[in-house]
Amino acid sequence: MPVTFRKLHPLFAAEVSPIDLRKVNDRATLLQLRDGMDEYGVLVFRNQPFTDAEQLDFAQRWDGELHAKLGSGSVAKNRLGNPALGDTSNLNPAGKIRDREDRHRLYSLANRLWHTDASFREPAGRYSMLSTRIVPPVRADTQFADMRVAYDTLDAETKALIENLKAHHSIAYSRQTLGFEFSEKELDELRGAIHPLVLTNPRTRRRALYIASHISRIIDWPLPEGRLLKNDLMAHATQPQFVYSHEWQDGDLVVWDNLATMHRATPFEDTKYVRELVRVTTLDIDYTPTDGSGVLPNSVTV
Ligand SMILES: [Fe+2]
Repeated sequence: MPVTFRKLHPLFAAEVSPIDLRKVNDRATLLQLRDGMDEYGVLVFRNQPFTDAEQLDFAQRWDGELHAKLGSGSVAKNRLGNPALGDTSNLNPAGKIRDREDRHRLYSLANRLWHTDASFREPAGRYSMLSTRIVPPVRADTQFADMRVAYDTLDAETKALIENLKAHHSIAYSRQTLGFEFSEKELDELRGAIHPLVLTNPRTRRRALYIASHISRIIDWPLPEGRLLKNDLMAHATQPQFVYSHEWQDGDLVVWDNLATMHRATPFEDTKYVRELVRVTTLDIDYTPTDGSGVLPNSVTV
């Protein structure tokens, strides 16, 4: 059955025509969805009542290898019992809303910073699939910004400046900027990864800025100068006209390309209302440098 896409923003993001992804298992449909992802960067599927197992199955049909969160003793203990399932909820292991001072809550607040998922890993995260379980009765949007448009709209001087630059991405760094503190052991687990600032989609040849609040430094640049460049690029890339704000409905599954977009959570009364979303992220296989130059040993996420 042909899949159609309805644009949700002048520049990117689309809602996909009605489809039951639990039953999609044919190459032709999966390729249409992949093409849609290459074009729109963010795809919204309505009425997808996934169980955790069905969501994992679909993610593997979509893109094969899954990004699993590793490391015992990590800040974000997995409530869902499978390291490939990302717990994007405000619930503690007992199923109660986390307190304001809960360490996991404070750690997760950094999701309100613009970022890409798992850019601090090698290979990095590619597609993220966020599925609703409980939608709160108040707005708790996820916002997306198109990094291909961000790149295209840079001036020629900046494009030339960043052409061959690389950045170090660290999830510890993005949280430290908010005052979150880590133990020595945690910091040792969270060494991060190095990636180019500009990526090219191997299928479409479109270029994209690959930036995030996780960037701690530009390789071979003085620290303050690199952080200022990062700040300038982040400000450019997240101008309001580049941003799509997704208002969640029951049954939504939103899939995005982490190499073509950034995203962030928006604040809501999270100590009052339950919000439960489950995320599965696939690994970036296509873009990984074959020489291993991006690898920092023992990089582990929480
Ligand atoms: Fe995220």
